[in-house]
Amino acid sequence: MPSGPDELTTAFEFRAATRLVVGPGTVARLGELARSLGATRVLVASDPGVVRAGHTAAGLAALARAGLATGVFDRFGENPTTEHVEAGTAYAREFAPDLIVGLGGGSSMDCAKGINFLLSCGGRMQDYRGRGTATGPMLPSIAVPTTAGTGSETQSFALITDAASGMKMACGDPRAAFRVAILDVELTLTQPPRVAVLTGIDAVSHALESHVSRAATPASRPFSREAWRLLAGNLPRVFADGGDAAARAAVQLGAAWAGLAIENAMLGAAHALANPLTARHHVVHGHAVGLMLPHVVRFNAGVCGAAYEELAADLPGDPAGAGGAPAAARIADWVTGLLVQGRLPTTLSAAGITAPDVAALAAAAAGQWTGGFNPRPVDASALAGLYEAAR
Ligand SMILES: [Fe+2]
Repeated sequence: MPSGPDELTTAFEFRAATRLVVGPGTVARLGELARSLGATRVLVASDPGVVRAGHTAAGLAALARAGLATGVFDRFGENPTTEHVEAGTAYAREFAPDLIVGLGGGSSMDCAKGINFLLSCGGRMQDYRGRGTATGPMLPSIAVPTTAGTGSETQSFALITDAASGMKMACGDPRAAFRVAILDVELTLTQPPRVAVLTGIDAVSHALESHVSRAATPASRPFSREAWRLLAGNLPRVFADGGDAAARAAVQLGAAWAGLAIENAMLGAAHALANPLTARHHVVHGHAVGLMLPHVVRFNAGVCGAAYEELAADLPGDPAGAGGAPAAARIADWVTGLLVQGRLPTTLSAAGITAPDVAALAAAAAGQWTGGFNPRPVDASALAGLYEAAR
């Protein structure tokens, strides 16, 4: 939460490891940028949908123009698992790359980071849970996002699902951060509307949660704040017209700023609550976060009212003057409105979870590291209450 100048007398760090190359057509620079990092053999991780859309071919053509040898790993899906990463690592050991590219949505970027962990440091993905877990230097890597939302391009965590338990593991290390991220808006124009909705709501949750996180600092908040401004102003435009390139570009940059905010400030209870919904009920991450976020915002209202007041003022046509509703309620209703606009169910029961085992979900949520950064402390009982509120 924003606080006064006293906060500047407390020690903090700010990390921005990734060079951003932004603009339409910039994917054509992938080869030149890889070369500048000393690459001769480049492994590209792209999920099959991205390959089909032709984006991988555009990246491979740029790499070939720079005289670089390339190999593609595409045997993974929406939420890359430990098994996918192990298969990609086996492929990488044979191909022997000196640079890795994650070209696609969050799954492609996460898979690229996961392969980099195992190829560079050995062991299993489970060994790298948490932060600062790499055991040595890692290969340089480049992100080329084709969706706008996860923020994986600007933060050093790989989200990999444990194939045995179904739980998502956040595995991060500053050495896993991409050296370069190419933000080419033209690659995001082909996102199916459902993907744009799900990733966009995820990005909104990143801006909101990182802004009020207990780990937020005077250096992280400007990025959360600007991410929120870009997303609040432009996401409804993207939902209404997927061909609106200006709005798409704003959302793409907003998602990248939100990723940078996460890197420095972490997240909160909405992510802790969302992960068990994905693991146990297969709710896609962006939807799971969108279902829980409005309730978390209301829950947090008492401790971060001033921060929410500032954010609510950015909402398009913010009804503050008219109704005088508290900022938390205006933000929560706006997030729910995004779900409605994106034709997503807004309650657990409407999402098909008619008899949730709230106690088991809350116990799983309480074990999520990210919940510890929520501005208002959450325990299993508070988390159960939030699931109840979402029913
Ligand atoms: Fe997220």
